[in-house]
Amino acid sequence: DGDVYKYYADGEWKKSSSGKTVAIINPSTRKTQYKVQACTQEEVNKVMESAKTAQKSWAKTPLWKRAELLHKAAAILKEHKAPIAECLVKEIAKPAKDAITEVVRSGDLISYTAEEGVRILGEGKFLVSDSFPGNQRTKYCLTSKIPLGVILAIPPFNYPVNLAVSKIAPALIAGNSLVLKPPTQGAVSALHMVHCFHLAGFPKGLISCVTGKGSEIGDFLTMHPGVNCISFTGGDTGITISKKAGMIPLQMELGGKDACIVLEDADVDLVAANIIKGGFSYSGQRCTAVKVVLVMESVADVLVEKLKAKVVKLTVGAPEDDCDITPVVSESSANFIEGLVKDAKEKGATFCQEYKRDGNLIWPLLLDNVRPDMRIAWEEPFGPVLPVIRINSIEEGIHHCNASNFGLQGCVFTKDVNKAILISDAMETGTVQINSAPARGPDHFPFQGLKDSGIGSQGVTNSINMMTKIKSTVINLP
Ligand code: G3P
Repeated sequence: DGDVYKYYADGEWKKSSSGKTVAIINPSTRKTQYKVQACTQEEVNKVMESAKTAQKSWAKTPLWKRAELLHKAAAILKEHKAPIAECLVKEIAKPAKDAITEVVRSGDLISYTAEEGVRILGEGKFLVSDSFPGNQRTKYCLTSKIPLGVILAIPPFNYPVNLAVSKIAPALIAGNSLVLKPPTQGAVSALHMVHCFHLAGFPKGLISCVTGKGSEIGDFLTMHPGVNCISFTGGDTGITISKKAGMIPLQMELGGKDACIVLEDADVDLVAANIIKGGFSYSGQRCTAVKVVLVMESVADVLVEKLKAKVVKLTVGAPEDDCDITPVVSESSANFIEGLVKDAKEKGATFCQEYKRDGNLIWPLLLDNVRPDMRIAWEEPFGPVLPVIRINSIEEGIHHCNASNFGLQGCVFTKDVNKAILISDAMETGTVQINSAPARGPDHFPFQGLKDSGIGSQGVTNSINMMTKIKSTVINLP
């Protein structure tokens, strides 16, 4: 019937007074794998209070000590990579090796954040007044970076550990406290990760993890007066959150429709390898996945043939067996993907493989000759289905990319560096990769989306800065 997990508050593991649990369905078996507590609004209130109190003394804890604890948590997390990865396999059907990579990457991210934090936060500014017209040198301004208070972190199902620590570590190094609301699929992996912070010995109440139904505690958390900043990664729920949240800083990453523009002079083997990795890793369930290929007609046949040869070689099956393509996260997600496929079929797309589905498992599918009137040309399937649109000019490719409501990343393949730079400048996305598939990492690189893809910028340095405020003290001389 599934193991039942407690939530984490005040440095302790607790059962919710609701007496209710939320089931986590294993995407592969479609049966209940685990259960987590359905926390109440009252429990959220308590967590917020403890977070507020704990933050006050944490902000006074020396920076080097905060860093030391984070390094400790990173080491413990890495030691526990096997059991955490196992949860990722069961909860979100992440292929076994990728699950291990996610945990290790998370440990590295925590350590890097601790190192970066001591440097960024260890420095302030000194300004003098006589640079501004009309002033004498009578004012000295000292600035430093102070924490915001309580940070609410809401990571998505596809990286429940990594996209949680990418919010937790910068929040903590900067002297904030943190309330984590993990995604339901991925909640147990997140609770295990939180346990590593618990073992590292962070003060009580500084980190907490509340689980439960979005309908019960979702809005309650995001609109809670005790929250001073929200860092969210996920779908368009983020847009709703941003409309309801109060006057607090928001960091949001809400998906994308990353385009891959392929020019005539591109190294087609390199392109094919990147499209397969970029489009199909974790079965396309990454916001940075290649989600539409825009290829010049003259090289399209060659590219599509190479892609077909590679798609056939992708292994399809269980995450435990480390297959390339594994069941998508939920039945509703599989149904949504199927809807896009059917629409493309009706409107005449060329199916490079036969469409095949068994439960939540969808076989990798390449759709050629996709046209702008098809939904798949614009919507993100978050599954192993990749549309190819044949273009006759670079402008056509850029136009399609920019007509999207998303603007996360994009990529361009060409040997002509001048063209690459011009295209990069023209693409309205937060990042453009030249001769590689889109990706968030390395995790200290800035990561941001334009338009509906997000607010603010992530990456270790940007997140630390985002979770602080500038405080000035001005010394007025006689
Ligand atoms: O989908 C979440 C996004 O942050 C992707 O990260 O590392 O797969 O590029 P990554």
